[in-house]
Amino acid sequence: MTPPSPPSPTGRFNGLAVALAILALLIAALLIGRFYFGPQHVRHEAAATGIGGSDTSIGGPFTLTDQDGRIVTEQDFRGKYLLVYFGFTFCPDVCPTSLQRNADALDLLGERARDIVPVLITVDPARDTPEKLKDYVHLFRPGLVGLTGTPEQVAAVSKAYRVYYAKVDPAKTGGDDRMYMMDHSSLTYLMGPDGRFLQFFRHDLSSEEMAIRLSRTMGGR
Ligand code: NI
Repeated sequence: MTPPSPPSPTGRFNGLAVALAILALLIAALLIGRFYFGPQHVRHEAAATGIGGSDTSIGGPFTLTDQDGRIVTEQDFRGKYLLVYFGFTFCPDVCPTSLQRNADALDLLGERARDIVPVLITVDPARDTPEKLKDYVHLFRPGLVGLTGTPEQVAAVSKAYRVYYAKVDPAKTGGDDRMYMMDHSSLTYLMGPDGRFLQFFRHDLSSEEMAIRLSRTMGGR
């Protein structure tokens, strides 16, 4: 006869393991959620895919308002290269970094930068008034043009450039509706003097590499 075995701890152990696994999954989901939907611009490049190097369907006509309150269209820039970035002035990180990188690249080009007009088109027209843009653009470079418009005008030009943007739920950024963030793609586009799309630059490209590419595209060394 064998003695009665003591009660097995396996049952209780399994229960504990399952509870720990569920807890770990919950924490992982929370972290992934914060990363993916958080206020940072982690999805900036999400819309970047699918644009080819010589995609002639990018760009087109637009009507917007500049930082001095003037109505401008794409025709006002004919004869100049356009360096177009979409962003918003409240952006804490990616927009200022990209705009500074673009300004630095133009500095590296020296005199040849005269043929290029850098442009910021806001994806946040509700807050980015011409006055707000005027205060902002001069932080980066003289000649940087800030453009805003009605929500419809901004939507139209963003669509033409295949720019993704969306207001981040204010509940995810502390609940204050005035402090909301905009999620948006962060490519800079180079348009030719005839208004045609030439190439784009990802936001992690260096100013040096950008200057080289700009120079090449403009027919330089
Ligand atoms: Ni931004």
